[in-house]
Amino acid sequence: MNSDLSPSFQFRNDILHVDDVAIPDIVATVGTPVYVYSRQKFERQYHLLETSIAVFGGQICYAVKANSNLAVLKIFNALGAGFDIVSGGELQRVMAAGADAGRVVFSGVGKSAADIDLALKLDIGCFNVESAAELARIAERARLLGKVAAVAIRVNPDVDPKTHPYISTGLKENKFGVPAAQALALYDFIQSNDHLRAAGLACHIGSQITTPQPMIEALENLLKLIDQLQDNGIELDHLDLGGGFSATYDTEPPFDFADYSERVVAALDNRKIQIVVEPGRFLVANGGILVTTVEYLKPQPSDEHHNFAVTDAAMNDLIRPALYQAWHGVDNVARRDPNAARRWDIVGPVCESADFLAKDRLLTIEPGDLLAVYSAGAYAMVQASNYNSRGRPPEVLVEGDSFSVIRRRETSTDMLRLELPER
Ligand code: LLP
Repeated sequence: MNSDLSPSFQFRNDILHVDDVAIPDIVATVGTPVYVYSRQKFERQYHLLETSIAVFGGQICYAVKANSNLAVLKIFNALGAGFDIVSGGELQRVMAAGADAGRVVFSGVGKSAADIDLALKLDIGCFNVESAAELARIAERARLLGKVAAVAIRVNPDVDPKTHPYISTGLKENKFGVPAAQALALYDFIQSNDHLRAAGLACHIGSQITTPQPMIEALENLLKLIDQLQDNGIELDHLDLGGGFSATYDTEPPFDFADYSERVVAALDNRKIQIVVEPGRFLVANGGILVTTVEYLKPQPSDEHHNFAVTDAAMNDLIRPALYQAWHGVDNVARRDPNAARRWDIVGPVCESADFLAKDRLLTIEPGDLLAVYSAGAYAMVQASNYNSRGRPPEVLVEGDSFSVIRRRETSTDMLRLELPER
């Protein structure tokens, strides 16, 4: 039932620990709600992926959007990752983390002129281009700045990734990328322009993809294009296969990297091209939890009603259940008698019926208890908002037997700062 009790999240003497730190010790210092991350778990995930894709010499560009805390970016930078960014803001973050701009790929359908200029001035590794109009804009900005932009066309391979519709990106009804049929003309444009260089070809078909099959289908479609480009005399340096490798929230089996890598090698069939992947969720989701305190219990008079445990964390802190019907494991931080368990909906204080973290969970809960919401290392804090004027929670990084606050709790002063008149 509990999702990611990896070695980094374990009970010792009935108290949940993150590596060698007891959660109540963190809460005593920083309060709740709080996101807690395990450096060891992030590093283990990275090594697992790195080792798995070593057979085809894959380069990892961490998808910053999954968790963009500077301390987290520094961990992946130290491990040798490049970065996949989608905004000037993310670019500023990776630069602040000490990244080499040459290992940055810039994805996204709506790159502004200002963001393109920043990326050009920093000489980023590659723009993953999503439309003819964007390509024209990049060419123009590069001309104005006297630069040559390295570009890859992001192709939409029209493959069903069999994931939630909101996180599918590679179907023809999705806004991302260009159809394969149009890509050749865009490469001709690149070849004819002095301020563009054809560096690669890219795709990303979706997120939380649990089997290699759709990714391999996409790869096969892309390789056909690579061959056609080669016939036209265009040699690319790299092929970017995007991210999407699943994390384990519930009972999903782990993504089968052995099978994936074997099939990538087979599909490549001795073609010499650098493969890039852009994982986000796989690296960080299972390395984080959201810890919250139960404020009130609302047990209901009959079975027709739901019992509610009202926590101090809400949909503004973790929107995934409300937005994608996502399932996150929930557990007591201090174990209680399982015989007293009943079914609870875990809900927050926000004035919305969609404000729930979990539904219908068999737990023994008392007011004041701490609960851990698992798999909150990806797309949790980064999607948090100030809705209901709630300050966003702090983030804590556990490193072995010590922990540090890597982002402090947001205060009312922080939230009012941009609205108060300048002094
Ligand atoms: N590359 C590109 C171009 C992307 O758009 C994404 C994610 C990734 C890489 C990383 O995908 P990952 O490896 O993390 O699956 N907020 C949603 C997920 C949105 C993903 C958007 N794009 C959620 O909470 O499930």
